[in-house]
Amino acid sequence: MSKILAANFKTNHTRASTRAYIEALDAHLDASGYKGETYIFPPATALDRFETKADIRIGAQNAYPTVKGSFTGEIGLEQLGEFGIGTILVGHSERRHILGESQAFIAQKYAWFKEQGFTIVYCIGEPLEVREAGDDAVRRYLVDQCEGIDTAYEKLILAYEPVWAIGTGRTATPELIEQTHAVIKRLSDRPLLYGGSVKPQNIADILAVPGCDGALIGTASWDVESMVSMLETA
Ligand code: G3P
Repeated sequence: MSKILAANFKTNHTRASTRAYIEALDAHLDASGYKGETYIFPPATALDRFETKADIRIGAQNAYPTVKGSFTGEIGLEQLGEFGIGTILVGHSERRHILGESQAFIAQKYAWFKEQGFTIVYCIGEPLEVREAGDDAVRRYLVDQCEGIDTAYEKLILAYEPVWAIGTGRTATPELIEQTHAVIKRLSDRPLLYGGSVKPQNIADILAVPGCDGALIGTASWDVESMVSMLETA
């Protein structure tokens, strides 16, 4: 079974470059007969309906748990519905540590989008100081990040993204990924991705790790040729 690969564009790409990216990716995957499940999370301004031949699913990086209302700066179900979006990232470390989303709000958002039948890519991962405090501290931290989360939800995809590996070039070793994924697999049997400085040079080793069902990729996914080369490995 092909691994799941997901591209998180974060605050990169425009409407035009996102469309060009997805068209180029689709052309390549269709020509190669690639059958894997691929997710693209563009910035909110680039969300749109994309007709693709390959199994490319467009997801929202974020949204507010509401149909519509008075939540300045946010988008809700009505806006996502315009583009047929039914997949969302929840709990990304940048939402937690830069934007200040609490575990309680993340759990509320998770429950709400679960009620709407969304596929949810739910992100967990420890900061460096927790990793340095040892395995028990990491386990407790990851368990706490699953507080209030239905980890048996059939449309859940988990993503383990150690904060110290995100955007740093300091990728977790295959041994550490295997060890930590084993801990998370005791919390949920749902598909589990790894994220944190995944790139064409290391993705084969990462996808070969037992208990790793795919990758959630930032920087290395922003260039479509780089993404294609990683998909060829999946
Ligand atoms: O959501 C994926 C992202 O957090 C990983 O970023 O740049 O380390 O691949 P990057």
